[in-house]
This record gives sequence, C-alpha cells and structure tokens, in this order.
Amino acid sequence: MTTDLLFAIRELRVNNIINVNHLDIKKDKVTCITGESGAGKSTLLKTLNKMITPDSGEIFYKGTSLKEIDSVQHRRKVIMLSQVPLIFPGTIKDNLIMGYKLNGKKPCDDEILKQAIHNMQMTKELHEDAGTLSGGEKQRLALARILLLKADVYLLDEPTSALDEDTEMMILEYFIREIKKKQASLLMITHSNTVNEQFAEERIYLSQSNGQ
Ligand SMILES: Nc1ncnc2c1ncn2[C@@H]1O[C@H](COP(=O)(O)OP(=O)(O)OP(=O)(O)O)[C@@H](O)[C@H]1O
Ligand SMILES: [Mg+2]
Repeated sequence: MTTDLLFAIRELRVNNIINVNHLDIKKDKVTCITGESGAGKSTLLKTLNKMITPDSGEIFYKGTSLKEIDSVQHRRKVIMLSQVPLIFPGTIKDNLIMGYKLNGKKPCDDEILKQAIHNMQMTKELHEDAGTLSGGEKQRLALARILLLKADVYLLDEPTSALDEDTEMMILEYFIREIKKKQASLLMITHSNTVNEQFAEERIYLSQSNGQ
C-alpha cells in the first residue's frame, strides 16, 4: 500500500454502521467529513483512531495496516477529539497539561498555557474550574489542549459545534494555521456548510448506506 496516502480504507465494515469499499484520505490536507446524523461519521473517526476494531476490511495509515500498529503509539500521533470533549476534573491548567501527561511529555510553563487559552478567544484564568465552563468553552479548552501537543494528524469530531458562527470561523482559522505550521493533517467532521466551504481542501460525504 502506498505511503503517499494518510489513510487508505479498503472494504471496511463496522457493526453494520460503516460500509466503505474504497476511500483515500490525503496527507497534509484539511479534509471535512459531512453526512446525516447517524451516518457513521463518529464511528469512522474512532475506527481511524483504533478506538474501534473493524469487523472486516483494512485501514492503512501511511502505508501500514492499523493491525500492525500499536494503539497507544498510534494515538500519540493521530490525536482524536471526540464529539463530547473530554474534560478532566480540576482546573483549566490541569486540563491543558493532561494532554502532556497522557502523551508522556513534560508540561510547558504557565505563560505558554495562558497564551494557548487566549488564542482560543477565552478570557479565563488557568486556576479556574474547568467543570463550570460553558459547552463552547469546553470545546475550545479541548482544542487548546491538543494544539499544545505535537501530532501528525488531528481527528476532530464536530469540534466547534457549540460556538457562534463568528467565533467558530476565527477558532478554526487559527487552529488550521497552527497545524499547517506543524505540517499536520486534519480530518474534521462538521454539520456546517460554511465550515465545509471555507476550510475543506478535500471533502467526504458519508451517506447512511455508505458503500463508497
Ligand atoms: N457502539 C455502538 N454499538 C452499536 N451501535 C452504535 C455504536 N456506536 C454508534 N452506534 C450507532 O451507529 C450509528 C452511527 O453513529 P455515529 O455516532 O457514528 O453517527 P454520526 O454520523 O457521527 O452522527 P451525528 O452526526 O449525530 O454525530 C447510529 O445509529 C448509532 O446509534
Ligand atoms: Mg457523530
């Protein structure tokens, strides 16, 4: 299998939800995934992250079958943000450094963490409780957390669904600019036509019946 592709999906079947015969995802691109609710978009992203094992078929990551790649190693390079972002009990700072801990790296200093929050248009302090943040603030905290990490691929499941459109566009523009600097790829699920039109370099539409 060619190493030029980020993901090559072949004859993939998952739980009667996903039925994708042939789908290629390119490296170094922003790829947006759209499709009806229940079409299997989140399931597909989890499968790419090795959180779900397919019933049959194969996924190749840069030419190597996911079956041959260690799950923990894979998730350090291919970072996923789930549809309901995971917020850990504790402060904003605790949440920002949790990413480092999970990835086995040393945390950076508070100035960088403060800047990370500021860059997400949040006017909160590091010591504030993350549990009381609004839905949109939790999404931005989760985005800030993963942006501090070095990843090859970001898999984002409706990362800005709780934000107003102006903030959504600002946040995504910033996030994409930053990941391009890291030469990372982005695969993002969205229900927003505006996001899809504005940011997608590649587009995938997942239909209920799949069968791509
Ligand atoms: N672990 C599971 N076991 C059984 N069915 C599941 C499981 N996870 C998801 N499903 C079902 O699979 C279908 C696809 O779910 P998925 O979350 O992938 O959809 P989605 O395209 O992300 O939808 P949305 O746009 O609403 O987020 C749904 O009908 C869901 O109920
Ligand atoms: Mg979903």
